[in-house]
Amino acid sequence: MFDSGFGGLTVARALIDLLPDEDVVYFGDTGRYPYGPRPLDEVRAFSRQITRLLVERHDVKMVVVACNTASAAALELLRFEFDVPILGVIDPGVRAAVSATRNGRVGVIGTVGTIGSGAYQRSFRSLSPASRVVCAACPGFVEFVERGETRTEQVHVLAERLLSPLQAAGVDTLLLGCTHYPFLARTLGDVMGREVVLVSSADETAFEVRSILGETGTGRRSGAESGKGRHTFVSSGDVEWFRRLGSQLLGPELIEVEAWQWE
Ligand code: DGL
Repeated sequence: MFDSGFGGLTVARALIDLLPDEDVVYFGDTGRYPYGPRPLDEVRAFSRQITRLLVERHDVKMVVVACNTASAAALELLRFEFDVPILGVIDPGVRAAVSATRNGRVGVIGTVGTIGSGAYQRSFRSLSPASRVVCAACPGFVEFVERGETRTEQVHVLAERLLSPLQAAGVDTLLLGCTHYPFLARTLGDVMGREVVLVSSADETAFEVRSILGETGTGRRSGAESGKGRHTFVSSGDVEWFRRLGSQLLGPELIEVEAWQWE
């Protein structure tokens, strides 16, 4: 699985909890983060490069694009170019939001790249045409997470400003369409109020991984070795920083981080 940085760790957490026997290789492209403000073509090229690395060097049996911006930019291309199953986070998030909403009004927040791509709007149209969807790009949120600032006054003020159109639209569900945002859940929940349900794609994505492993017969059998999956973390940026902040955000599985240098 991969993300531009730490955000995909929200999906890694769900995956490790649900499938403790599976080996996980997580690539955080912190040397080139953030992806959100970049042109989609560039994110597509990065995604292809990382997928090749995971398939060829780490011999993975499936790739989870644990980044909404990369899912929006590259999912179709990756599915076309690689033989292993490739799963993104957009459709799983939409499914989770559709089952959570009571009034059919869903807010979606994400990076400029994700929201601008129209990928969420398209996914809602095909999976739940009756839903009313209000989207808002939230530039700045990812940077707060990457600095480890998830509960500061500044992020609260920014959230109040960026989320106000969604509040005005009366959404009862807020889909966190960026894998970094669950780390801001307390702040986002405070701002939206307790009647609004926050939904992320992490759990739903992990369930889909389990289904695909089941359907393709590639899941690892639990038994005496149950809970023995190996977890490998690779970063293209400062590995010490990745280890420190990553273990704080993910938990005890993140002990060591391998360095990767792009040419
Ligand atoms: N975690 C990412 C996403 O889900 C990318 C954030 C970024 O690098 O801007 O979109």
